[in-house]
Amino acid sequence: MILIIHAHPYPSRSRAGAALLNAVADLPDVKIHSLYQRYPDFDIDVAAEQAATIQARLVVWLTPLYWYSVPALMKHWIDSVLSDGFAFSTATQAQALTAEAGRQLCTKRCLWAVTTGGSEYAYSAAGKHEKPFAAFVAPLEQTARFCGMEWLPPHVVQDAHGLSDAALVEVGAKFRAALIAAAASC
Ligand SMILES: Cc1cc2nc3c(=O)[nH]c(=O)nc-3n(C[C@H](O)[C@H](O)[C@H](O)COP(=O)(O)O)c2cc1C
Repeated sequence: MILIIHAHPYPSRSRAGAALLNAVADLPDVKIHSLYQRYPDFDIDVAAEQAATIQARLVVWLTPLYWYSVPALMKHWIDSVLSDGFAFSTATQAQALTAEAGRQLCTKRCLWAVTTGGSEYAYSAAGKHEKPFAAFVAPLEQTARFCGMEWLPPHVVQDAHGLSDAALVEVGAKFRAALIAAAASC
């Protein structure tokens, strides 16, 4: 199963993220958790999210880029779902209750599918973000790695507001192909 954790605070205004989501929604074995619809009060059902995550081979975080990071509810999902004893363990070997404690995400793959307002040029030394997009990935990448997940190269859609309707269709098709490839090699 591919679990897509979709976090967009204004889904009805989303163009780029919506194009990505719509392009893969009908794939077999895809399950979509749109966090802002599920948890408008930020009261995440941690047990349900953890259970869904355990079922997945590939976990996709599908978000717009907000201040070089993810929207608040995506961060809250990470803070609450990737908990001690589930996604990692601070217990010593002797204290660990079971061999699985803190290892529920090991061997799963993690893909960040992210849309940015900034263009490729904006993410260059001469551009307004001054650094390549890759320079902003480390905290999320290390979060996944810390939990034992295999981190895939992010699927980035840049210049989101400049994309025509035709370009959005192309972007969606590329994402669909990328997801099928990522899931096939799991
Ligand atoms: C609060 C906020 C913060 C944002 N921060 C960034 C940013 O750091 N870098 C960037 O390139 N775009 C930034 N953007 C633009 C969004 O990434 C862009 O609107 C979004 O990816 C477009 O996707 P959508 O059509 O699915 O909404 C920000 C937008 C908002 C509302």
